Amino acid sequence: MTSLTRRDLLRSGLALSAGTLAAGSVGRAHALLAGYPGVASAEAESAVAPRERLLFDFGWKFFQGHASDPRRDLGFGMGQGDFAKSGELWFATAKFDDSKWRGLNLPHDWAVELPFVHDEEQNSHGYKPLGRRYPETSVGWYRRTFDIPKEDSGRRITVEFDGAFRSALVFLNGYFIGRNDNGYAPFRFDVTDFLNYGAKNYLMVRMDASFGDGWFYEGAGIYRHVWLTKTDAMHLGHWESAVRAEVRGESAVLTLGTIVRYEGSDAESCRVRWQIVDGAGKVVATADSAVKPIVPDGAATFVEGAHVSKPALWSPETPNLYSAVVTVESGGKLRDAERITFGIRDIKWDADKGFFLNGKSVKIKGTCNHHDHAGVGAALPDRLQAYRIGVLKDMGGNAVRTSHNMPTPEWVEACDRLGMMMMCETRLMSANPEGMAQLEAMVKRYRNSPSIILWSMGNEEWTMMYEAQGPRVVSDMMERAHELDPTRLCTAAVNTAFQTHFPEVLDVMGFNYNPKEIDAYHAKHPKQPSVGSETASTVSTRGIYSTDKLRNWVSAYDLNHTDWSQLAEEWWKFYAEREWLSGGFAWTGFDYRGEPTPYGWPSINSQFGIVDMCGFPKDNFYYYKAWWGAEPVLHLFPHWNWDQRDGEPIAVWVHSNLDSVELFLNGKSQGSKKVEPLTHLEWSVKYEPGVLQARATKDGKVVLTEKRETTGGPVAIKLTTDRTEINADGDDVAVLKVEVLDKEGRAIPTAANLISFKVTGEGALIGVGNGDPNCQESDKEPKRSLFNGLAQVIVQSTRTPGTITVEAYTEAYPRPKLPSVRLTIATKKVELMASVG
Ligand code: GAL
Repeated sequence: MTSLTRRDLLRSGLALSAGTLAAGSVGRAHALLAGYPGVASAEAESAVAPRERLLFDFGWKFFQGHASDPRRDLGFGMGQGDFAKSGELWFATAKFDDSKWRGLNLPHDWAVELPFVHDEEQNSHGYKPLGRRYPETSVGWYRRTFDIPKEDSGRRITVEFDGAFRSALVFLNGYFIGRNDNGYAPFRFDVTDFLNYGAKNYLMVRMDASFGDGWFYEGAGIYRHVWLTKTDAMHLGHWESAVRAEVRGESAVLTLGTIVRYEGSDAESCRVRWQIVDGAGKVVATADSAVKPIVPDGAATFVEGAHVSKPALWSPETPNLYSAVVTVESGGKLRDAERITFGIRDIKWDADKGFFLNGKSVKIKGTCNHHDHAGVGAALPDRLQAYRIGVLKDMGGNAVRTSHNMPTPEWVEACDRLGMMMMCETRLMSANPEGMAQLEAMVKRYRNSPSIILWSMGNEEWTMMYEAQGPRVVSDMMERAHELDPTRLCTAAVNTAFQTHFPEVLDVMGFNYNPKEIDAYHAKHPKQPSVGSETASTVSTRGIYSTDKLRNWVSAYDLNHTDWSQLAEEWWKFYAEREWLSGGFAWTGFDYRGEPTPYGWPSINSQFGIVDMCGFPKDNFYYYKAWWGAEPVLHLFPHWNWDQRDGEPIAVWVHSNLDSVELFLNGKSQGSKKVEPLTHLEWSVKYEPGVLQARATKDGKVVLTEKRETTGGPVAIKLTTDRTEINADGDDVAVLKVEVLDKEGRAIPTAANLISFKVTGEGALIGVGNGDPNCQESDKEPKRSLFNGLAQVIVQSTRTPGTITVEAYTEAYPRPKLPSVRLTIATKKVELMASVG
């Protein structure tokens, strides 16, 4: 057997991080898992690794071009001839001087750096100046100089983008390489023929956000990772290795498929070997193919089988993962290898009984989410994906929908690793080449991910749903998805068109809103399983308790929704009471930029989130936590800091899943109330400052208490971090919460102080936020006002281990001046992911 060496694994992206970052699909080398079975010692390394997968994120140069004036766009498009001759695009050659360009690392979103513009046409973009009417801010050029060693000659080398917004044109060493239109699907180019071996290379990417793909904030630029992959001329096909796991009694039957491609010049033969590795690193099954001939520019398909006995099944509670190391050998020589991560689980959609995971009925407690976050826009460091899933899991959520586009790999990997089911949706519902290519990329890229339980062909196609083209197009798409992945069913998110033929062709019916239509549809289509593909669209502003149209605030009591949607309590009761409905996906988990609803300017983001843009919970979060989660919950609101409202009745609400709750104001009982499942409790309490306390009882015993106290004025700033130690890898982040305290050390829930930050040491501030849908302060400047007592600071490590110190302080004005505080985060040395130097 051919052994993979320690270095082979790291360079190829096959290594697993020590207990943390197992990759979904093709593995990534965050850190080495020592003692990986079948791996020879470091000393016995072979001379050349079969595959190198290099992160291509660091050391780029950036320049804002111009979409309509070639003179301000490097002269590109000045005459007729830019694409007329090969090799003459000078800006991608040594002749071009980028020394004055801004240096940055990817991922990068230039939209989040732009000022807001009060232009109603731009509301979907969150009032950012992108589009054909804003040529001066809609084009960005990214340039990277890099070396390719002489020894790489003869290897196949590709540059791969995980997704970039939008209309990418890629140039290398003066040559035009290719283009990619849409803003979400990954794309790649084989650049083997265009490289300078043993010399410098100049890669240039022009991104143009003049057009959009959606109706929400999409970002702009190379906002996902880029990779450079080097393989032998005989290599595994891109995203061709797939593991299908079928649970049969006590064991799992694995079907292992892959395609070997060959771009050499002489006919050869090859065979493929699979090693199945469990979560502890033990090889639990292997499969060896027969030797097959392979011709130049040819391919050979391999399908093998294996068994895993007593598999550790994947579920949200037990996100057990396996990996498969796939190797290609020819003449006793290792030619290529990759690691793919998969899970073993059984899913079933039943028209009468809903969704089943591993034989058990599981209600889908899901949220739809767009991809942006406070401070960073669409360019999320990997760790933020895990942070966001942590928030949704804490709420009791077990599923997400990637509305309305193909997700970034790190979001899927985090769902696999942390245990979050996923309805994975493509952006363009179309059977045209672009639509099919996007769909194929999604299914091939993610079909090994156990978190994905359903493919979505798209969302609310208002024309297609009502026209004859709709059923034809969606059937073609589903057929292709089934060919590539026979293990999963398909849906589409349908709104209003319930009487048409469109929904009838779907494997699983996806209802968007319209609870009044759902029973009738089900009665007419009793054999079709169904899910709430989109529900809720409840609106609320965190920490606000009366709707104020002048200030664009919506009360955070569960009282407000748009005219097409429902309250949290309404939609969830409806779904919970119907066994045949598999559960649903609330719009949305997180607030997102753009689509500012229910108000427009100066709101720059939506108010649909159950948590705000930073992930700070609004009060409805606790409704879901009470009825979705497994833990006892007691949440009391509003805050108890009311000016000049003494004697006025205040609505006091409680979300709890315990038996009963008694409320006290300054020690006086306001009455005890029994909890009715799936609802909240409510009192009207005459305001007086002091302590409002709730005591929740289970089986006659008080098990939880919670209080809201009237606080004094601010005297101190408090910083807390989600982690005190992060990886010194240039990507990891700490997420800090900023509050101000009164002299008793109580956080002030209404505080709006402007806090400034200074970050020193081995890290940098990459974004700030406060969850205020109307805040137009910069996401990037080192200062932020608190909104209802909270702000967030995101700090990223460099690749040098050490410490990061974050100092928070106030300027002399506005008053009051608060003493500065510091918080230190350690950044620890980790084995760095192999990257382009
Ligand atoms: C839906 C749509 C979402 C979002 C939402 C707001 O109809 O699918 O993308 O726009 O409405 O309520």
